[in-house]
Amino acid sequence: MLWYDQNARELPWRVRNGRPDPYRVWISEVMLQQTRAEAVIPYFERFLRTLPDIPSLAAADEDTLYRLWEGLGYYSRVRNLSRAARVLTQSFGGTLPGDYDTLCTLPGIGDYTAGAIASIAFGQPVPAVDGNVLRVFARYFSDARDILSPSVRRDIRAQAARELPVSRPGDFNQALMDLGASVCIPNAAPRCELCPLRETCAGYADGTAALLPNRAPKKPRRIEPLTVFVLRCGSRAALSRRGENGVLAGQWELPNVPGALLPDEAAAVLRGWGLEPEILEPLPPARHIFTHLEWQMTGYSVRVRAESGGLSWFCPDALLTQIALPSAFRAYRGYLTD
Ligand code: ADE
Repeated sequence: MLWYDQNARELPWRVRNGRPDPYRVWISEVMLQQTRAEAVIPYFERFLRTLPDIPSLAAADEDTLYRLWEGLGYYSRVRNLSRAARVLTQSFGGTLPGDYDTLCTLPGIGDYTAGAIASIAFGQPVPAVDGNVLRVFARYFSDARDILSPSVRRDIRAQAARELPVSRPGDFNQALMDLGASVCIPNAAPRCELCPLRETCAGYADGTAALLPNRAPKKPRRIEPLTVFVLRCGSRAALSRRGENGVLAGQWELPNVPGALLPDEAAAVLRGWGLEPEILEPLPPARHIFTHLEWQMTGYSVRVRAESGGLSWFCPDALLTQIALPSAFRAYRGYLTD
């Protein structure tokens, strides 16, 4: 705790000597699930300026939400935020409950996020064990088991609960997060010489800290070839909406079909959509890596004579200011408006 008092990072969702607003803690914790704290800060500040409370989040339309999230990825997180905000507005008087079990019932709130909100915003003595804290504990207990295994996670969580001080559980959990970010760092030797837990750390004592944590090897990612179209008609360009299931569910996308098509095949697909390609030029290939999937994209820039094909056509201004196009299409986005 002394270490945290002296070394805590200054972050906009934290307050010194007190409890931060539960809404701010919730939004920050969801953003921080996949993204480093420094990278989250500007997104967090913009999100809070636009949607300062639960009712405004519950009322926000999809395009606003996606734009605020554009660049953070994993958009199911922002859809769950919006769903949970509607549940909170309807059933909880527009406020977050302070209790861990009730928090766990909300969309998108799992045991880590519930633990973080309950401890940081409400002072409840519950652990908040994410991947970083798992690493710290695997080293601290010199635990060589696979930290991706759910039973090992449960076990470490139970051990973390026993270490938790009742007086400042939120600060304790955040101290572990900061320790994981700056001292007990990932993918590198831990900086044990700076660590306040060194004297009682089993991994330091037996020399295993730098070798841990262990993770079972991951399954290789599935590779999906995809042909992606930048379709222009005059100054307007076409997008479509993805289906409600699977990767990037419900989001805007560049029209595409499975497979790596040759120019003739690509033109035939477009004619099948009722479009008349006048010019069809290859674009550089691109790829995008998701957690379990990799898209290998063949791109074509196409001029068509008329807007049809069951697509949505947008002027450059709308494309630049209103539409959130997932970063999976980043390599081709510039061609929509150039
Ligand atoms: N990572 C996840 N939650 C965090 C928090 N509250 N502070 C710093 N880093 C974090």
